[in-house]
Amino acid sequence: MPQTESFTHENHYTAAKVESKLLTIDDAKKLTAKETLQLYRKHINPNLGKMLDMLGFARSTPVRAKDTKLYLRDGTEILDMSGHLGVMNVGHNHPRVLKARQEWANKEQLEFWKFHPSPYQAILCHNLAQLFPEDLEVVFFCNSGAEANEGAMKMAEKYADVGRDLIVYTDISFHGKTHATLSVSGSEKFQNKHFKLLPGCIEIPYGDSDALEKIILDNKGILGKTKVCAFIVEAVRTEGVVIPPRRYFEQVRKICNKYDVVLIMDEVYSGFGRTGKMFAFEHHNIAPDICSFSKAFGGGKATFAAFITRPQIFNKAYGKISEAALHSSTYNGYGEEIVSAIEAINILHDEGLVENSARMGKYFLERLREIQTRHSIVKYVNGIGLLLCIRFENAAYKAAKLIPGVPEELFAKLTTGGIITELYEKYRILIQTPPHDANQLLISPPLTISKEEIDHFIQALDEVLKMNIVDVALKYIKRYLS
Ligand SMILES: Cc1ncc(COP(=O)(O)O)c(C=O)c1O
Repeated sequence: MPQTESFTHENHYTAAKVESKLLTIDDAKKLTAKETLQLYRKHINPNLGKMLDMLGFARSTPVRAKDTKLYLRDGTEILDMSGHLGVMNVGHNHPRVLKARQEWANKEQLEFWKFHPSPYQAILCHNLAQLFPEDLEVVFFCNSGAEANEGAMKMAEKYADVGRDLIVYTDISFHGKTHATLSVSGSEKFQNKHFKLLPGCIEIPYGDSDALEKIILDNKGILGKTKVCAFIVEAVRTEGVVIPPRRYFEQVRKICNKYDVVLIMDEVYSGFGRTGKMFAFEHHNIAPDICSFSKAFGGGKATFAAFITRPQIFNKAYGKISEAALHSSTYNGYGEEIVSAIEAINILHDEGLVENSARMGKYFLERLREIQTRHSIVKYVNGIGLLLCIRFENAAYKAAKLIPGVPEELFAKLTTGGIITELYEKYRILIQTPPHDANQLLISPPLTISKEEIDHFIQALDEVLKMNIVDVALKYIKRYLS
């Protein structure tokens, strides 16, 4: 193909730009918080940058993170009550995870195990099979929660075979932001109406097993077999910590067995001890056919995910030699990720962190309920293990509406935005609001959290809620206008 003038010119231009402007890791160490935010807003996302600034997070850079704490460049210590979206179950930079990774790197070990079966992958799969009940023992590694869920749905579709490709999901649910996972994420419906969705995904209410059976029966194909291949669901809906009654999942399991529908359970957030059991489905005394997991799986150091299934499902889906690589990915199981995950699971076990999650979670929920009795602005609290939430009335809404120049989208986040900023700047506590319910704080700290740290959070929240919340929220919103 002949090179065009402009193509050649572009190449020269790029090379010259690179020579004069490439920055180094040392430059990053010296970048001020303000300069960092400028580059973030220019190259990553202007409005996300603005929001991080409004919350106060962008005003000093963390230079260290250890266990439940972050340490900022200006010397401040921050208590992490978010667990960084539930990733840090064993705490930030757990020394055993660091050691495993350093040893791996220092010995110049092979990173990419595609041509040689990896003993480390073998051990990790063995360990996962020990953690999961029944014959859940065949594992596929990948890189994100969405990728794990998408792989799980493909596997169910292939297992069920031609003509059975409908997937049922629930109205309050989140399984990722790829096209396929958005198609089964009920909670994303309104924010993501711009994107095309997979056909054949059917929504039913969360917690309603009769609706599942009805959809299965309403969609009969050839020989009277249902066209539904899978039901994808979370054992505990993360946001709002919604826990269906135990009977629900017992019924779901029976229905899936009866009609040969693959039960996919998403443990991306709830897995690895978050809810006080190793996996949240254990609260319901059932087992899925495919389980996806990510977040805490990489020990807080590796971006890692996987799904696990039964041999019968794997063999029917991909058991033929011609189909052995039908579902694959370049990056699935780098050495350093694998050793991080092996170590993280052993840490959860050795340090009794799942038990600590159950114990501390119970205490935390009691203390949140006390807060609810003291402050009428608190409308709802719930929790299971160290997955907890607190929902507020949007007390500042009316006052903020009177301020000109504030975009509509910000009104929903006013009260929580003010509370989060106050907790961060005055009490040095990091906490998040989940994407689909801006009036809620989602609490998912490292499972190493102590009673004293919970008390510190409760006392700080109590003091913030004693303040005039409208003033707190208006202070936050003024940052938007400045
Ligand atoms: C329950 C659940 N499933 C799936 C995902 C998607 O994971 P990822 O962001 O790694 O794609 C998330 C992310 O928060 C999640 O909470």
